[in-house]
Amino acid sequence: MIEVQTQSVTDDISPSQIDFISDFIYRKTGIVLGQSKKYLITSRLYSVARILGKDSLLAVIEELRLRPTRQLETLVIDALTTNETLWFRDKKPFDALTSKILPFLHTVKKEKELSIWSAACSSGQEAYSIAMLLHTCDLFTDWKINIWATDISSQILERAKKATYTQMEISRGLPVQYLLKYFTESDDDNWTLNEVIKKLVTFEHFNLQTEQAPPSKFDLVFCRNVLIYFDRETKNKILDNILKVLLPHGLLLVGGAESTLGIHKQFQPLRFDSAIFYGAETSGAFWAEIAG
Ligand SMILES: C[S@@+](CC[C@H](N)C(=O)[O-])C[C@H]1O[C@@H](n2cnc3c(N)ncnc32)[C@H](O)[C@@H]1O
Repeated sequence: MIEVQTQSVTDDISPSQIDFISDFIYRKTGIVLGQSKKYLITSRLYSVARILGKDSLLAVIEELRLRPTRQLETLVIDALTTNETLWFRDKKPFDALTSKILPFLHTVKKEKELSIWSAACSSGQEAYSIAMLLHTCDLFTDWKINIWATDISSQILERAKKATYTQMEISRGLPVQYLLKYFTESDDDNWTLNEVIKKLVTFEHFNLQTEQAPPSKFDLVFCRNVLIYFDRETKNKILDNILKVLLPHGLLLVGGAESTLGIHKQFQPLRFDSAIFYGAETSGAFWAEIAG
């Protein structure tokens, strides 16, 4: 158990210390930081210093340089990942799933099994949004549903597994009908997701930069709002790995500000109403009936 210290943390960090932290984070996660992220690095390392009871950022950096334990590395990685997320993020892809993609998969898939990967799932809102959507649409009640949700941050995965959210987190995109149907309010004004939805999702630690996905294949892969943190080479490698685990008809969804175009040639964009998904070259024929 780590005791949180309250003493104040002082001092500034030098360009070479920023380079050291940026290099550490790049090697461990693929995330590109650098001198322009000095403010972010400093403010996030303050939290690590406080947790460890160190009185300077330099002390944290020196500890990481000279005595890099697994616990310290995890703390620094957790602090420097950005976990911003919300329910039903960007809405349009979820509308396309409801109106077109899921009904079509329900009609054409021979095996009654649906596998979905939420890669970089943060505190779980994405994976649970998918789970609630599937549960509500009633098409898949007798299907085997596998939702695999992964992230590099151990701390955020613990939060995701707990599935307890503050009022502020709930207010970020969760439609009230889902709140009433699937959440229970606790005395401290937090909301906890019901077991029936939690059970649909399996959370695991997974580093997109260094690990090969398991041999399972997926109908849908959500890899959203994480590619933006990587350089072109890392994005290409991650997209390559995703391609290997997509079923021939499988679809990839990236974030609103992300695309595979110009990064990986073997994905083609497929439009479902106003939402764009990406499929392998083989997927076009499968979706031809409903994709524009
Ligand atoms: C901004 S959140 C996006 C969450 C969600 N996908 C969404 O769109 O709302 C980015 C997540 O990517 C995770 N992440 C960053 N680098 C990663 C890596 N190399 N492997 C796996 N996850 C990573 C972070 O921990 C963070 O939770």
